[in-house]
Amino acid sequence: MFTRNTINISNSFDQKEHVVVYHGSCLELLKQIPDRKIQLIATSPPYNIGKEYERKLKLQEYINQQVAVIEECVRVLSDQGSICWQVGNYVEDGKIIPLDTILYPIFNDLGLVMRNRIIWHFEHGLHCSKRFSGRYEAIIWFTRNTKDYIFNLDPIRIPQKYPAKKYFKGPKAGEYSCNPLGKNPGDVWDIPNVKSNHVEKTDHPCQFPVELIERMVLSMSNEGDWVFDPFLGTGTTIVAAIKNKRRGIGSEVVEKYVALANERIKKAIKGTLKTRPMNKPKYDPKDYNNKQAIPPWETNSDKLRQVELFAQTRSSLK
Ligand SMILES: C[S@@+](CC[C@H](N)C(=O)[O-])C[C@H]1O[C@@H](n2cnc3c(N)ncnc32)[C@H](O)[C@@H]1O
Repeated sequence: MFTRNTINISNSFDQKEHVVVYHGSCLELLKQIPDRKIQLIATSPPYNIGKEYERKLKLQEYINQQVAVIEECVRVLSDQGSICWQVGNYVEDGKIIPLDTILYPIFNDLGLVMRNRIIWHFEHGLHCSKRFSGRYEAIIWFTRNTKDYIFNLDPIRIPQKYPAKKYFKGPKAGEYSCNPLGKNPGDVWDIPNVKSNHVEKTDHPCQFPVELIERMVLSMSNEGDWVFDPFLGTGTTIVAAIKNKRRGIGSEVVEKYVALANERIKKAIKGTLKTRPMNKPKYDPKDYNNKQAIPPWETNSDKLRQVELFAQTRSSLK
């Protein structure tokens, strides 16, 4: 079904298509999708923090907009389907409001059931001086109220810590105790975010890493299923879907991001898009003898001088 080079990118929904990129609002695209057609919805909406692609709204207005999109997403969700909503914090006057806590009641009121609150941990971001620097965001995962939802654990297992460990007593004594396919990755995902040195970096300020979405695609859908991202950005969700033989559909309002998404999706179809492989160990500069990872202030006097310079910079910024 998925022969490379034969997939077209359509701009409207049709059950026969494999890839749909809609330039416009997600509510318009959602109107084209029949009830219960989508197996997985994986997305990251605007956080209402004044990024270049959003107008900062009063919190209640933002919530109302989210309600309208989430209601439609629930309508198109298949009986065994999943919704993963990835969000960070809304920030106002230095106060933070974790968006997943204010969005949870919306899904709950629509009859969905939360299966995990996944913490996505990463290491790069703004350095705060009046609170701890934010180094995680949340993915809230919901299904319909059924035991029958799709969850494929085997394709997303990660290596065991002690694969050679054996049972030391009981009827299985002497046999290996762990699953050779690997272990459940758990609900804290340590995946590098897409900053300047990342192989997937484009001009979008907050792209998903492909491997983050692949974990959802592989575990929460089957080959040929539809995977939908209402807030498509650079097309990452569709890229992850194509890489894993699923159908991908998404909408994006900003023209330059639609262009980026189309470009990346075409490469993904041809198999030429560079992505960071799933489960690749994180880069540790010390393992590569990277000189930048060695403190240059060997002597105490150098160190004091450096501290002094930092203090001067800080006071000149006040
Ligand atoms: C957080 S970014 C998503 C980035 C995406 N996950 C990626 O990997 O590139 C949110 C995106 O939603 C788009 N957007 C905002 N409102 C929208 C709407 N009503 N319909 C469709 N897209 C929208 C923004 O332009 C922005 O690119």
